[in-house]
Amino acid sequence: MKIISGPASVELSENVSTLTGYQNVSVASKIFPDGETYVRLEGNISNNDNVAIIQTTCPPLQDSKLFQLAFIADVAKRMGANKVTAIVPYLAYARQDKLFLSGEGISVRTIAHMLKASGIDEFLTINIHSEHVLSEFPFPAKTLSAISLLASYFVEKGHKKAFALAPDKGAMYIAKEAQQVLGGDVGHLSKNRDRYTGQTSQSAEGLDVEGQTVIIFDDIISTGGTIVGAAKILKERGAKHVFTTCVHPLLIGDASKRILDAGVEEIVGTNSVPGAFSKVSLAPLISKHLKGAP
Ligand code: R5P
Repeated sequence: MKIISGPASVELSENVSTLTGYQNVSVASKIFPDGETYVRLEGNISNNDNVAIIQTTCPPLQDSKLFQLAFIADVAKRMGANKVTAIVPYLAYARQDKLFLSGEGISVRTIAHMLKASGIDEFLTINIHSEHVLSEFPFPAKTLSAISLLASYFVEKGHKKAFALAPDKGAMYIAKEAQQVLGGDVGHLSKNRDRYTGQTSQSAEGLDVEGQTVIIFDDIISTGGTIVGAAKILKERGAKHVFTTCVHPLLIGDASKRILDAGVEEIVGTNSVPGAFSKVSLAPLISKHLKGAP
């Protein structure tokens, strides 16, 4: 197998190559003055090579990153690659995974079909927002979980037995996964969203966090509104320390500032979205998967 370094995930790709021992193929990329995307594989793909392209598609420029991925897959296939696996830690459009209002599309399904047309045979992502959508993808598709890596980060920082909190009921499976590593209590808030205005409201029934260290676990932090709201509730209920962690720290605009201003002591994410809060690397998780380890 060869690892192709997608321009959006160069460091992660190189670390996966180091951990697996698989040869790394770099990619030159640029954006033309008119905004169009250009890529060129700098290494050779031999006939019958299996290749894995590692390319996250987080903002900014998620559409360009998707096009880079498609162009690389097409080139790899034309150079003779046998099987092309796309490893996309953060999949853009993954939250547009069902019809909420008539006239909308299921954008993530459209993306998957576009990727299939570019030559991708197999797909791997990390903590996709809703796993059910993968069954509709036109190629074998799998999601891995980075939650135990995030929980381990907090154990190493001395927070064993911390309370694992899901900011809404849908994220409870994430909090329970974290609880397996942390060994403390688990619970969730409730969140409701107005589908027209996008406004959300949160509430907590019977949540006892008085004097506790609480870590809020989510798949994505985008505007930070969910975490700010959760932190306020936790502080009102007497939580001693509040941390937050997520797999995909999009942290749009001033999200990190607003979260820290709300009393959250630390924000921890993975390098699915490279940035100041990407403190946990996905390289070991992806490498283990590529090596076929259980
Ligand atoms: C929603 O169900 C997700 O799991 C996240 O809670 C949500 O995407 C976070 O968005 P924001 O940071 O904008 O509140």
